Amino acid sequence: MQLICVFLLFIANCCYADYIAAVVEHNPVAGPTPALTIEENLKQYIYQIEQAKGFQADIVVFPEYGLTGLAENPEELALSIPDVGTFNFSNEALPLLSLSNTAKAHSLYLVVNILEQVNGTENGTIIYYNTNIVFASNGTLVAKYRKINLYAEPKLTPGKELSTFTTDFGTFGLITCADILYYNPSQTVLIDTGVTDVIFSTAWNSYLPFYMSLEVQVGYALANKVNLLAANINNPSNGMGGSSIINSDGTVLRYILVDSPSTSSIYATVSKTSKNFELMGFDILRNETVQELANYKIQTDFDYNSYSFKSLDLSSENITADICHAGFCCNFNIVAFQNETNSSEVYKLVAFNGKTWFNNTQVGIKFCDIVACLNQDKSSCGVRLSTPYNTTFRQITVWGNWEVQPEEFYRPITLTGNLQPVYNTTYLENRSNVTVGVSYNITRPASNVVTFGLFVRSGVESYGFSLGLVVVLVVLQGLF
Ligand SMILES: *[C@@H]1O[C@H](CO)[C@@H](O)[C@H](O)[C@H]1NC(C)=O
Ligand SMILES: *[C@@H]1O[C@H](CO)[C@@H](O)[C@H](O)[C@H]1NC(C)=O
Ligand SMILES: *[C@@H]1O[C@H](CO)[C@@H](O)[C@H](O)[C@H]1NC(C)=O
Ligand SMILES: *[C@@H]1O[C@H](CO)[C@@H](O)[C@H](O)[C@H]1NC(C)=O
Ligand SMILES: *[C@@H]1O[C@H](CO)[C@@H](O)[C@H](O)[C@H]1NC(C)=O
Ligand SMILES: *[C@@H]1O[C@H](CO)[C@@H](O)[C@H](O)[C@H]1NC(C)=O
Ligand SMILES: *[C@@H]1O[C@H](CO)[C@@H](O)[C@H](O)[C@H]1NC(C)=O
Ligand SMILES: *[C@@H]1O[C@H](CO)[C@@H](O)[C@H](O)[C@H]1NC(C)=O
Ligand SMILES: *[C@@H]1O[C@H](CO)[C@@H](O)[C@H](O)[C@H]1NC(C)=O
Ligand SMILES: *[C@@H]1O[C@H](CO)[C@@H](O)[C@H](O)[C@H]1NC(C)=O
Ligand SMILES: *[C@@H]1O[C@H](CO)[C@@H](O)[C@H](O)[C@H]1NC(C)=O
Ligand SMILES: *[C@@H]1O[C@H](CO)[C@@H](O)[C@H](O)[C@H]1NC(C)=O
Repeated sequence: MQLICVFLLFIANCCYADYIAAVVEHNPVAGPTPALTIEENLKQYIYQIEQAKGFQADIVVFPEYGLTGLAENPEELALSIPDVGTFNFSNEALPLLSLSNTAKAHSLYLVVNILEQVNGTENGTIIYYNTNIVFASNGTLVAKYRKINLYAEPKLTPGKELSTFTTDFGTFGLITCADILYYNPSQTVLIDTGVTDVIFSTAWNSYLPFYMSLEVQVGYALANKVNLLAANINNPSNGMGGSSIINSDGTVLRYILVDSPSTSSIYATVSKTSKNFELMGFDILRNETVQELANYKIQTDFDYNSYSFKSLDLSSENITADICHAGFCCNFNIVAFQNETNSSEVYKLVAFNGKTWFNNTQVGIKFCDIVACLNQDKSSCGVRLSTPYNTTFRQITVWGNWEVQPEEFYRPITLTGNLQPVYNTTYLENRSNVTVGVSYNITRPASNVVTFGLFVRSGVESYGFSLGLVVVLVVLQGLF
């Protein structure tokens, strides 16, 4: 029985076809009325879909809040969305009918984020969700995903359920924006679901040095060995932008990172057979212009007074160092080209194990990284310069072995002064039931490095106290 299952799984994975993905980074327009806002953006969506069809796209992915802009009043913009399986949208809101018809007319899958309203059952209250809907190439609604981890969306209700859909070219999981930093759903959607590809629609505000849009996207794909279609809202003056199509072997097939407000699409053939897990590397197409991105205004989230630091002496030939914070330790092996170090350039190791704020919720994180600094002052670390850092590293390896904690996950993070990942790296993670070993290194010389290291989202440790309490209560109950 077991053998048959393994065999079937093998068959299922082996026979998915390669496909052509289109990801749209959209700069939403605001109409004079809410309805006209949706109508105007929808018009642009349909134009982008027609373009994508010209590239033989099988699936087109739009970003979070693309149809409405960053709306704070869902009551003006939300639509009722019928159940999964609906194929006749004649009696539904016009945008839904139009999207279904467009998917069908061009015979492609369509992923669109929309504000959803659901009429309360008992008292007439209406509740609102941040929802991704998926139309199959015959126009049928095949998936509906309600964002679980809301971020500064006080009028919305969080979703509860995972959502996936299966096509001829793979099984797709859906996650939205802040979800990517939470175990549920970013990791749970990959467990026992058969998911080979993840759709990440987002309205992502980048923060230096650990939360830049592309940095987070690449870290997710690399750590989880899934294809990733990441569609972001575009608003560079707000630090919003950065979309990508990443192959499960870690290759960034295409990305968008632009300096001026605009809507643009990328297309790439996503391979189901390239599974070179041993040599995962970023292979960004180098001819894409690397701009200074002066108008991409990125904020900083670097609470340096809470972290531990260690200065590096780049003039020593081989650097072996560890860094710890609150019991979390990582090891580094670093070699810089001696002829390309510059005594005015400062790199430090930084580590943290504690809590941080994701908007108004406190969450556990850990990280250990090498970071570029302007000078010896730790407040000057993790920033971006208008000129590149000139130190070239021959080797950077970060590694460690830690106890497995429930719902804790590890990701590589890497960023250069161009706001792109460091090219060609290897991320290895070995898990047993009790320990997790991670090693992350560069496989070719790297320069202009701003950040390179590991980011960890701690799991349920904040429940430790209440769990303990429950145990104590249960024990007490047993006694009396
Ligand atoms: C879709 O529903 C409308 C209204 O109920 C109906 O008139 C139409 O015939 C239906 N179309 C199909 C293809 O079932
Ligand atoms: C929900 O309520 C609104 C107004 O109260 C109404 O217009 C709409 O048709 C209702 N939707 C559903 C699906 O019942
Ligand atoms: C109305 O009903 C919903 C459940 O449908 C409930 O969550 C909400 O608290 C209720 N609101 C009031 C004012 O009773
Ligand atoms: C449309 O496609 C979906 C997904 O492949 C399938 O489940 C559904 O049966 C199809 N519907 C029709 C009417 O062909
Ligand atoms: C967090 O959310 C509140 C509204 O809920 C908003 O006023 C605030 O600006 C947000 N902070 C950040 C850092 O996004
Ligand atoms: C990354 O490594 C691969 C394999 O060694 C190589 O073919 C490719 O050119 C490298 N990419 C870049 C951007 O150097
Ligand atoms: C990069 O080069 C390829 C092949 O020469 C070309 O098709 C593509 O348009 C170029 N991309 C850019 C952004 O110039
Ligand atoms: C430094 O490390 C390199 C490999 O990265 C090795 O070949 C070399 O022998 C080391 N040098 C010293 C002095 O340990
Ligand atoms: C530094 O030395 C390496 C070999 O050790 C060489 O490949 C590189 O071109 C040199 N860089 C400069 C700026 O001379
Ligand atoms: C790197 O070298 C260039 C050219 O010499 C220089 O303009 C730039 O300021 C240097 N970068 C840093 C961070 O010192
Ligand atoms: C790991 O845990 C699984 C399920 O709990 C168990 O079947 C397996 O034997 C364990 N493996 C080791 C090496 O302890
Ligand atoms: C990077 O790590 C991989 C896997 O551990 C290893 O095979 C490779 O030699 C390492 N590369 C460098 C430059 O250290």
